This record gives sequence, C-alpha cells and structure tokens, in this order.
Amino acid sequence: MAKEYVDMNTPVIEMRNIVKKFGDFVANDGINLTVHKGEIHAILGENGAGKSTLMNQLYGLLKPTSGDILVNGKKIDMNNPRDAIAAGIGMVHQHFMLVQPFTVTENIVLGTEPTKGVQLDMATARKNVVEISERYGLSIDPDAKIEDISVGMQQRVEILKALYRGADILILDEPTSSLTPQEITELIAIMHNLVKDGKSIIIITHKLKEIKESADFCTIIRMGKYITIWPA
Ligand SMILES: Nc1ncnc2c1ncn2[C@@H]1O[C@H](COP(=O)(O)OP(=O)(O)OP(=O)(O)O)[C@@H](O)[C@H]1O
Ligand SMILES: [Mg+2]
Repeated sequence: MAKEYVDMNTPVIEMRNIVKKFGDFVANDGINLTVHKGEIHAILGENGAGKSTLMNQLYGLLKPTSGDILVNGKKIDMNNPRDAIAAGIGMVHQHFMLVQPFTVTENIVLGTEPTKGVQLDMATARKNVVEISERYGLSIDPDAKIEDISVGMQQRVEILKALYRGADILILDEPTSSLTPQEITELIAIMHNLVKDGKSIIIITHKLKEIKESADFCTIIRMGKYITIWPA
C-alpha cells in the first residue's frame, strides 16, 4: 500500500473553479483559491462581491453548485460545519454567535460533545482555554461573562473557540469592521502568532491598508468573478 505523507508544498486549502448560484444569480463564477500552511491570505472585494459566499462553502454552510474543495490535497465533500471542523477549518463570522450571560469557558465548551459516559470536565476545559489564550497572546479571562467584555475580546473568544475545536485553518470574515484601531493592531499581532505556529489564516476584508500590514497573499474577487492574486 502506498505510504501516506504530507508534502509541504501541498496547499492546505484549494478551491477549484467554484461556482455558486442562487437561482439564476451567480454569486461565485469560477473562483480559485490556494492557501499554504503558515500563510495569511486576504480575500478582497467590494460589498456583494461573493466573499462570504465563497467562505461559507469552505465552512460547509453552503454547497457549491460546482467545483472542488481540497484540504491538505484531499477532496472533501462538505455538508455542514461539522465536516469543516473535522477537516481542521474554523470560521469567525462577522456577527458573533456567543451566549451573552454565559462565561467565556462555558461558551467555548458549548456544542462540543463530551465523550459518551464521561462528565463534561469544566476544570480541564478552563485549563485548555487559559493554555490556548497564553500561547497566542489572546489575553482572555476564562471566567468573564460575554456581556461584560468588549467586542474585540468577544472576537478573540470566537477565535479561541475555533482553536479549541482543533482548527488549523482559520477563516475571519471582516474581522476588523467592528474593532478600534488599537484592537486592529492587536488582532494583526495575534494573527502573526498563529501563523508562526503553523496555522493558516484567510481574512476577508475590503480595506487595502490592512492587507498591506498583515497578508502574504491577496485574492481579489469582483462581482463574483476571480480577478487576480497579489503578493501583498
Ligand atoms: N442565500 C442567498 N440567496 C440569494 N442571494 C444571495 C444569498 N447569499 C448571498 N447572496 C447574494 O450573493 C452576492 C454575494 O454575497 P456575499 O454575501 O457573498 O458578498 P460579500 O462579498 O461577502 O459582501 P459584503 O462585503 O457585503 O459582506 C450578493 O449579491 C448577495 O445578495
Ligand atoms: Mg460578506
């Protein structure tokens, strides 16, 4: 039997000729995206260009009308976010999905299924939250209630939640739109900590300045069509 091995040149993500139609409307018209390990890859495009639609397919929220998605060189049939998470993909949406009266740790554990017959161990979960927070400089208080922390902190909780679930590839949809300039600087530092550790990041944005400061590559989408890729 052929031995399986990971080729460092194999992209972590390849989206090939992705077409997504909503009825007659073509939201993605043959889009290609290649992301390598340790890369920050921006997706740039105007409002309605089809950026979120493309990423929602990578996260299993939408099915492509046609085209292929490969993760670490293997074609994956994504039917829901669970498939994406199993493939090591995490997504932080523009609008967070946290439960306000719950603590950070409670939110992070929420939805992870405890092993059959084993009680959900909150103390261990909390320890893991602290460990991930420290490793990437997230500065998250595991016991704070979501309703008591800033929007920037809530976003970090979403990032930590994806990492807790084992994400190696993080999709950030317009992560800077609700942040202060100081928080944007901090987010970019966190992104660099993540890629230094071998994670890959896809960041949706329409701000050129941020791309220049943070991204290694940039794919441009205009009116659903793939335009070009830039070394940023
Ligand atoms: N579920 C849907 N049904 C019908 N049309 C949709 C659906 N989702 C998105 N669209 C349309 O597809 C196009 C691309 O939308 P998308 O949300 O991907 O854009 P975007 O690049 O993320 O824009 P924005 O910067 O506004 O977030 C838009 O014209 C949008 O109205
Ligand atoms: Mg969008």
